[in-house]
Amino acid sequence: MKKDFLSIDDITKNEIFNVLDLAVELKKKPIRNLLSGKVLCLLFEKPSTRTRVSFESGINQLGGSAIYLDATTTQISRGESVEDTAKVLDRYVDAIIARVFSHKTLEIMSKHTNAHVINALSDLEHPCQILSDLLTIRERFHDFESLKLVYIGDGNNVCNSLILGCAKVGIDIAVACPKGYEPNRNTIELARNYTKVSKSRVIVGTEPKEMVKDANIIYTDTWVSMGQESEKKERIRIFKPKYQINNKLFKIAASDVVFMHPLPAYRGKEVTSDIIDGPRSIVFDQAGNRLPVQKALLVKMMVSGRGPLSTRL
Ligand code: CP
Ligand code: NVA
Repeated sequence: MKKDFLSIDDITKNEIFNVLDLAVELKKKPIRNLLSGKVLCLLFEKPSTRTRVSFESGINQLGGSAIYLDATTTQISRGESVEDTAKVLDRYVDAIIARVFSHKTLEIMSKHTNAHVINALSDLEHPCQILSDLLTIRERFHDFESLKLVYIGDGNNVCNSLILGCAKVGIDIAVACPKGYEPNRNTIELARNYTKVSKSRVIVGTEPKEMVKDANIIYTDTWVSMGQESEKKERIRIFKPKYQINNKLFKIAASDVVFMHPLPAYRGKEVTSDIIDGPRSIVFDQAGNRLPVQKALLVKMMVSGRGPLSTRL
């Protein structure tokens, strides 16, 4: 695997399958010592519940040590450059797991440290979330082929990683979002290149009702991502009339349809309670899978040259 994991584009289809397979093994039989002696730093510029706790817990379970750094308490908040920070942390830790406002920050870190850099969410992507989502989908449907995932809402970081992840493993993805809130253009182009190999489709449009026909998975995320709080009123005004996941929309989908959301969710906004708290919702499986999937990711990235893992499972 590459040194860093900033994007779903940093992991091949085969590597995705390897991570998911190891995650399944780790769920059955936890191995305790694989990160022993390793120190990993979590440097977060934004709040987190799932990402922080699943990483910290996973690192502890694997015998490594985790140091949580709220970026506002570091010298970055007083103007020290990201470049210098990365060069310094390089001397202390084996990996930097960073949640940042700007994806550029991760790229600068990556360039100036030999430590592994892992994207724990940026404005552009949320790749760890999507690896966990892929495991959740595979557990539910056993395969990726012939599945249709429809993402409805804001073309944000989660949506970008989802598009790339689906395109790589061969899930058809259709995105419905208001004009002006589309996913990243380069990401769509990149994903469409992957679909030539995976024989799947990436469709982007504005009409949820049309898209949702035959959907096996309906996925949404908050309309107001971290850092967009000042746009909240305007965003709710734009999204609410057409982009809320509710029973009316759900009924149009395939009979085996499931509901997915990375959480935190805002009931009554992007999704109604009857859907997210209903029998077809798998949002807590998604959240739960963050732990084994990220453990598997860390092992695959950081433990190498010690013989086949299967001999130690
Ligand atoms: N889904 C997710 O990343 O949640 P947190 O913001 O709580 O980490
Ligand atoms: N799109 C959301 C995801 C939170 C996990 C955000 O960036 O705030």
